[in-house]
Amino acid sequence: MARLLVTGGAGFIGSNFVHHVVAHTDDSVTVLDKLTYAGNRASLAGLPEDRVSFVEGDIADAELVDALFRDVDAVVHFAAESHNDNSLNDPRPFLDTNIIGTYTLLEAARKHDVRFHHISTDEVYGDLELDDPARFTETTPYNPSSPYSSTKAGSDLLVRAWVRSFGVRATISNCSNNYGPYQHVEKFIPRQITNVIRGIRPKLYGTGENVRDWIHADDHSSAVLTILERGQIGQTYLIGADGEQNNKDVVELILELMDAPRDAYDLVTDRPGHDLRYAIDSTRLRTELGWQPRYQDFRAGLAATIEWYRDNEAWWAPAKDGVEAFYASKGQ
Ligand code: NAD
Ligand code: DAU
Repeated sequence: MARLLVTGGAGFIGSNFVHHVVAHTDDSVTVLDKLTYAGNRASLAGLPEDRVSFVEGDIADAELVDALFRDVDAVVHFAAESHNDNSLNDPRPFLDTNIIGTYTLLEAARKHDVRFHHISTDEVYGDLELDDPARFTETTPYNPSSPYSSTKAGSDLLVRAWVRSFGVRATISNCSNNYGPYQHVEKFIPRQITNVIRGIRPKLYGTGENVRDWIHADDHSSAVLTILERGQIGQTYLIGADGEQNNKDVVELILELMDAPRDAYDLVTDRPGHDLRYAIDSTRLRTELGWQPRYQDFRAGLAATIEWYRDNEAWWAPAKDGVEAFYASKGQ
């Protein structure tokens, strides 16, 4: 049994990870989360209080972080400003949390010699052409496009430097696009599902040809636990489940699964600098650590996610109008 500190555990993937840890291990979890607009304590409702505790605070608060690192065996670092569109609007919080916040945690990991796992994204590698047979691997050069992805790339490089220069016992994972329960309505799939529930037409950026490599958040969680338990210190692992889909196909599938006409969507202003395609080659994780994804039927996973948003309107409704007002101001 281990004592884990999970940063960003009230966010989308962090909360899915805490649920996964409680269901599949004997570990105890302390969540450190600032509860920004993206954090929601309700995402942790129902978890056993003797296994999961919650601390509201900032990962850039060195005094708080130092105190929390005294009593844990490992840290899994999900906390971030995570949305590309917000980073185009106001990059500053991305620097504060993704760079300074990660630096603050690394200094504490160094001081207390705590095992550290850093959660990152495939976006650090930039994008691929639609017809490129290549996929991202652990040796693909970094080439981030947005303020969000460049701060994530910067945070990855900090982790690598703290491993090499200070001997911090860290690993890194770079995952593709996640879907599943507890995802904020600003993101693509929940935005379109909740639009259809509200009678609003889904919104596709540009022509909808952009490709994302979808993975269920629970598969991301199992991969992270695998790396935490068996990963090689200093190593980077790419996480992906061979789930490439273009955005148009995803919107049409959502509409079909929600009994609406497949063409009942609008094309809207494209995202500046919009990455064309992401695709992950997760061979290292699968062959060296023996990990396999469980949710490989995207249609079934999406149908279950739609059901979750239908059943949990109280969870997402408070954020919906503000998100749509923000997008409307951008012509999206
Ligand atoms: P999210 O925006 O849903 O959640 C982020 C969480 O971090 C929120 O609970 C927020 O309150 C918290 N937070 C933000 N700033 C903080 C701070 N300064 N101190 C403490 N807590 C803070 O994000 P997500 O989609 O769950 O992403 C989690 C991680 O996974 C991020 O590091 C992201 O880069 C990475 N990632 C996301 C995806 C994806 O598809 N969403 C894919 C690959 C990697
Ligand atoms: O690849 C991993 C990344 O996936 C993570 O690092 C990020 O934290 C996460 O937000 C996600 O980034 P994307 O920018 O790919 O996700 P988003 O949900 O914002 O958009 C997915 C695709 O859908 C993208 O091509 C933009 C498009 N889109 C998005 C929205 C919100 C639309 O066409 N319409 C929309 O309304």
